[in-house]
Amino acid sequence: MNQEPIYEGKAKKIFTTQNPDELLVYFKDDATAFNGVKKGTIVNKGMLNNKISTFFFDLLGKNGIPHHFIRMLNDREMLVKKLDILMVEVVVRNIAAGSLAKRIGWEEGRKLPCTVVEMYYKNDELGDPLINAYHIKALNLATDEQIRIMETYALKINDILTDYLKNKKLALIDFKLEFGIHKGEVLLGDEISPDTCRFWDTETGEKLDKDRFRRDLGDVEDAYEEVLFRLTGETVK
Ligand code: C5P
Repeated sequence: MNQEPIYEGKAKKIFTTQNPDELLVYFKDDATAFNGVKKGTIVNKGMLNNKISTFFFDLLGKNGIPHHFIRMLNDREMLVKKLDILMVEVVVRNIAAGSLAKRIGWEEGRKLPCTVVEMYYKNDELGDPLINAYHIKALNLATDEQIRIMETYALKINDILTDYLKNKKLALIDFKLEFGIHKGEVLLGDEISPDTCRFWDTETGEKLDKDRFRRDLGDVEDAYEEVLFRLTGETVK
């Protein structure tokens, strides 16, 4: 790829294609945490996340969730529909962990009595603060209808993924989604991978996600490999 990316994020580069409605996403091995304060590389992460995201977009599409994914192009690249990204990150939580555990003073691993949906302002400078529907309206980040759609899809995605992953002996602790507008329609965008979800082994409780990098737990690549293997039976080594 000789072309310059139109956008380079922490984990991905985005390129234009000959079709103005489509973009190419390149998955990098770079890993960051704590809003870019911790930086590193996870060997093969780009490949693993491309394949894991491809798997999840396919699964969600088959279950009625409209998304930006068109097809995987090669090990590190996928073709997607171009979105006007809504500057809101939607987090869904089943078990208290990470920032929620800290915020409400619960020990990590305690089951939430009901699913919790949170919205964050996608703004690196501000460190992606937690916001609610009023803030989203006041900041003009999304309409009431778009907020309702994001919330509905987020809960449906949680049901689909939780059910599917149970059979793979993976507990879906929490995850982050991003949405965008394509031809007037709200579509699921970004990626779904161990970078954006917490997966715990249902039997051992072992963390199989980016917390291994964030918390220096070791065996980071192996964890991502394990997730791909459980989903597809595939390995990239
Ligand atoms: O850090 P926190 O507990 O709020 O993260 C909740 C979920 O959202 C985790 O699965 C985490 O991987 C994901 N997340 C993300 N990108 C962010 C913040 C959180 O993918 N910027």
